[in-house]
Amino acid sequence: MINPLLDKLPVGICLVNEAYEIVFLNAFFLDRMPVEVRGDALGKPLAEVFPEQIKFLKRRIKSVFVLKHPSFSYWEQRPHIFPFKSSRPITGEETQMVQNMEIVPHKDTDTGQQYACILIQDVTAQASYFKAQAQLAEELKTEHEAQRKLIRKLDRAQSQLIQAEKMASTGQLAAGIAHEINNPMGFVTANLNTLEQYAQNLLETCQATKKLFASHAPEHVEALQELYDATHVELIEEDMGPLIQESKDGLKRVSEIVSTLRSFAEEPQHTWGYLNLHDTANQLVQLVSTQFKRPNFKVTCEPAQLKWYCESASLKQALTNLMINAAQSIDDTGLVMLDIKQSTSGIVVKIVDTGCGISQANLKRVFEPFYTTRPEGKGQGLGLSVAYSAIEKHKGKLVINSREGKGTVIEVRLPVLKEKEEDKSASNSNAESL
Ligand SMILES: Nc1ncnc2c1ncn2[C@@H]1O[C@H](COP(=O)(O)OP(=O)(O)O)[C@@H](O)[C@H]1O
Ligand SMILES: [Mg+2]
Repeated sequence: MINPLLDKLPVGICLVNEAYEIVFLNAFFLDRMPVEVRGDALGKPLAEVFPEQIKFLKRRIKSVFVLKHPSFSYWEQRPHIFPFKSSRPITGEETQMVQNMEIVPHKDTDTGQQYACILIQDVTAQASYFKAQAQLAEELKTEHEAQRKLIRKLDRAQSQLIQAEKMASTGQLAAGIAHEINNPMGFVTANLNTLEQYAQNLLETCQATKKLFASHAPEHVEALQELYDATHVELIEEDMGPLIQESKDGLKRVSEIVSTLRSFAEEPQHTWGYLNLHDTANQLVQLVSTQFKRPNFKVTCEPAQLKWYCESASLKQALTNLMINAAQSIDDTGLVMLDIKQSTSGIVVKIVDTGCGISQANLKRVFEPFYTTRPEGKGQGLGLSVAYSAIEKHKGKLVINSREGKGTVIEVRLPVLKEKEEDKSASNSNAESL
């Protein structure tokens, strides 16, 4: 009565005695066993029927006999204990059965015999669903990660774009200001020169008048002296020269700023050609090192005779500005390195210094025209703006990495720019350097 019922269960049942012999198999278990062992399995040692699995099974069964507790084995740890097949309900496709196994202790109340009852549950469908879910989750995670990377890239691109736009608009503004300042500067400079001459003449007139009075009308000399004292003629005599000189110096500074502003804003002139970067780098280092004695300078250029098609004046200006900044960042001793390398897509120029570095807050502002941390009169705050716009004109990129107190690395990446046909013939032999 009981056996036919057990044969209807969707669970494999195999009863094993204490000698590890098979004493019962239900239909589910039997039907799924390999054909060659199916017929005479009953009564045989488990080891003979399942020689490959016996080590694992014996260990589990033994623990059930000793502890008298059920033992479980889930498919995640050991998916295919018995070499059974499972067929999919809809497609009928046969695959290796994924199994959960439970071994429960059983005692025959009549004989007192101990048994281990192996129960096998077919969880192939659940396992494949579970695996599909896990794969989906993995794919989602990868996709999510890719999206995050993309967002970061977009963020970077956006801030570069904002920077570029800012520079373009400040460039236009600078060009306008330079133009507007240039006109009044012209007449103020001319007027000051004339005024200097006039003032000189007036002073000379005063001196001559005093002499004339002394020789022709000595009685009026005292009155004249009183007049001179009241109008501070002697002070004027003393002070006028330095005052005019100071104003001229001021004007010179303004005109320097104006000309830098112009180079920042103007379109590159048509002086494109081949620049010998190796020679340029060496001459640049020589030039900067005569101004700045403290840092050690190191220069490398690979390949040694690298010639680069560019607008040489503005590129040299950019590199000079960057090198000067690097040298200025070094207070005591330190290193400034200029390293030029050809890459697959262009060239990479690195300017590295072991100087004071730039704080995170200042880093956001360094490209702003007139932003400077240097003492009054020592910096115009235009060096980086000019370098930026020159590199922009070469369709390149300028990236600053800096750590306060450690130093700064500036990387300039320049792509290969196509030489215009009309330039080709002129440029071949005359590579230029600084
Ligand atoms: N290599 C560097 N190391 C440290 N600070 C730097 C470096 N390059 C630029 N800076 C900072 O950026 C500011 C702006 O530089 P720049 O535009 O060349 O103007 P300036 O040199 O006239 O101040 C500097 O005042 C300085 O604070
Ligand atoms: Mg500078």
